Amino acid sequence: MRISASTAAPGLNPCDVDLFSPEFYATGDPHPVWAVMRASAPLHRQELPDGRSFLSITRYHDACRVLGDAADFTSERGSLLHQLGQGDAAAGQMLVSTDPPRHSELRRPLNRPMSAKSAAALEDTARRAVATVLAPAMDGEVWEVAGLADHLPVALAGALLGLPERDWPDLARWTAMAAAPDEPSWRIRSGSQTLAIAHHSLFDYFARQLRRRRDSAADDLISHLMTMSAGAERLSDDEVIYNCYSLLLGANATTPHAVAGTILALIEHPDQWRLAPDAVGTLVEEGLRWTSPASSFLRHAVTDVELSGGVVRRGEAVAVWIGAANRDERVFPEPYRFDITRANNRHIAFGFGPHYCLGASVARMTLRVFFDELIRRFDTIELAGPVEHLASAFIAGYIRLPVRTRTKGKRRDR
Ligand code: HEM
Repeated sequence: MRISASTAAPGLNPCDVDLFSPEFYATGDPHPVWAVMRASAPLHRQELPDGRSFLSITRYHDACRVLGDAADFTSERGSLLHQLGQGDAAAGQMLVSTDPPRHSELRRPLNRPMSAKSAAALEDTARRAVATVLAPAMDGEVWEVAGLADHLPVALAGALLGLPERDWPDLARWTAMAAAPDEPSWRIRSGSQTLAIAHHSLFDYFARQLRRRRDSAADDLISHLMTMSAGAERLSDDEVIYNCYSLLLGANATTPHAVAGTILALIEHPDQWRLAPDAVGTLVEEGLRWTSPASSFLRHAVTDVELSGGVVRRGEAVAVWIGAANRDERVFPEPYRFDITRANNRHIAFGFGPHYCLGASVARMTLRVFFDELIRRFDTIELAGPVEHLASAFIAGYIRLPVRTRTKGKRRDR
């Protein structure tokens, strides 16, 4: 998805834009459309040719209301837009598609292993992974950020879940296919077939990991999921597998695009790159707001609920556009300004309420280490070719971001 710095374009009608289509995000820019919707159509309905329909939420406070209230808005009929009308086989078993009180039972025993303290213990792992990712950039040749950033989250999730390094490339590929099945770079025949192949590969992979740990337990998150109690009982194998999948997908689908999008924003705003050495913490937060890599989440209304712009009727599907909420001028002064020193940055890139990202501490630590190392090593960073965007309504991401860097202390004449 392109990220424009424009506000509402006059004459732009949201009804002319297909927000459901993954292809739209490969070449289009939803930001001007979202700006119109925030201003004058905060509860916008889109009907699909096959009769399905959904409402779009673009204002920050409405987004928090929908994401924050699981009693009024269920996640159990699917939390991703491409599941519209299909339900979710993992409902009641996988965190992201389970409502309280079962959700709280599943989540409580995971809070400690996913805490800020546990994330801090992974900092050395993150630094090693970042060194691998940055190695090709050190010689001044063109560096393909979008591809290499894949290594970063899978190294962290791999360490958490205890997954062998030789499996990481497959895992990165399958999670990319699961998150954005319509992306032509890896689509196999159709989006639905790509999704089925990715799900089958990942579920089968985690089933094998479970069998291995049954023979000899390990000190990792998979063994923890297998032995922890949620409520009164242990998880079923399906529940363990779904949540392994969710943790891996949660990490891999988003983090590379937060890295790539923040790098692009720094290239486009050289004044901010110059400020970055003294502002890594706030740079990470502004990068998350700016890129909002988890672009949309779906809910269904359990009852009639009033939001800006009207009433959501019981049973209706509601898509929350996180990137739109993170540009709401009611909350963010000058929202289209990339400002790495932004104060009181209350972005909802990690969601809001009961489903707030379980991996937020790991993600924040990873991004801080990445930008710390990037800024420490390089004087300049510039685009070295055309940028290509991911075809997905779920993930705002990149498939090509070629850059060239100049190492600190080295001058190159080009
Ligand atoms: C920049 C990186 C990341 C972003 C932007 C992000 C974004 C999000 C968002 C918006 C949600 C809320 C979903 C909803 O409301 O339905 C979420 C949930 C979740 N994320 Fe992340 N995430 C990131 C990194 C990670 C990492 C590194 C992990 C795991 C190591 C992870 C695991 C999860 C899980 C398991 C959930 C479900 C939580 C629940 O339903 O209680 N995420 N994430």
